[in-house]
Amino acid sequence: MNLITDVKALFKRAARRLPVVRDYAAERDGLRAEAARLRAAHDRLREEHGAARAEADRLRAEIGARKPIRPEVGTVHPFELDLLRRLVAETDHLPGPIVEVGTLLGVTTTRLALWKAPGRKIVTVDNYSWNPWGLAPDEHLAVASQVLGYLVRTGHVEQVVADKGAFFRVYDQGPPSLVFLDAVHNYEQTKADLDWARRVGAAAVAGHDYNHLHPEVVRAVDEAGGPRRLCGSVFCL
Ligand SMILES: C[S@@+](CC[C@H](N)C(=O)[O-])C[C@H]1O[C@@H](n2cnc3c(N)ncnc32)[C@H](O)[C@@H]1O
Repeated sequence: MNLITDVKALFKRAARRLPVVRDYAAERDGLRAEAARLRAAHDRLREEHGAARAEADRLRAEIGARKPIRPEVGTVHPFELDLLRRLVAETDHLPGPIVEVGTLLGVTTTRLALWKAPGRKIVTVDNYSWNPWGLAPDEHLAVASQVLGYLVRTGHVEQVVADKGAFFRVYDQGPPSLVFLDAVHNYEQTKADLDWARRVGAAAVAGHDYNHLHPEVVRAVDEAGGPRRLCGSVFCL
């Protein structure tokens, strides 16, 4: 062996190993690319999972905030209806409409419609700002419109979607034969409702929630002369 032979042998060995080295570099680059791809997929999945969990939490909160719809809640109790029924009968000969302030689902509206003379009209007004079941205003309006659909289409009921203050300002259907007030139960609003009913010359003025649970209604009604008749919490001036 001489130096030249040694160098030749070395070159031969190196030439034999070159493809292995090249394969290793390609393998390493491939694995790096795969790792980057998997990392990106993992990040995307984590983001999607977070969004799905947030949506699930939102839906759970929305469902939890709602209560089962029981139509008897938020309306006049059956034992309080007697006075309302008598007031409808006593004013049935008068030409003006029955005006209900606060429709909710139309439960009392429907009862008034059952008792009244066929040609007599009911105007019921609501801005759909409150209900005891956590319904959104558009859902609340949709349910009330469905309940009152037949009565509205047959002309027995006019369903007004408005704030009562705005309704009072534009009302032009003559002195109501009966007004039933059942919207907001604080002093200022009850007083404003009673003042409007008197101003437009309502023949009978009634309302709901004259009891110890609503002291501001009691105060406003007492200042207006107090209830001439009372049945449960339904009063008539
Ligand atoms: C107690 S509920 C009415 C109940 C209904 N009279 C019954 O007997 O079934 C009160 C209603 O007044 C409505 N209301 C509250 N503030 C109002 C406003 N400023 N104008 C019109 N309606 C309003 C609410 O949206 C709710 O539907």
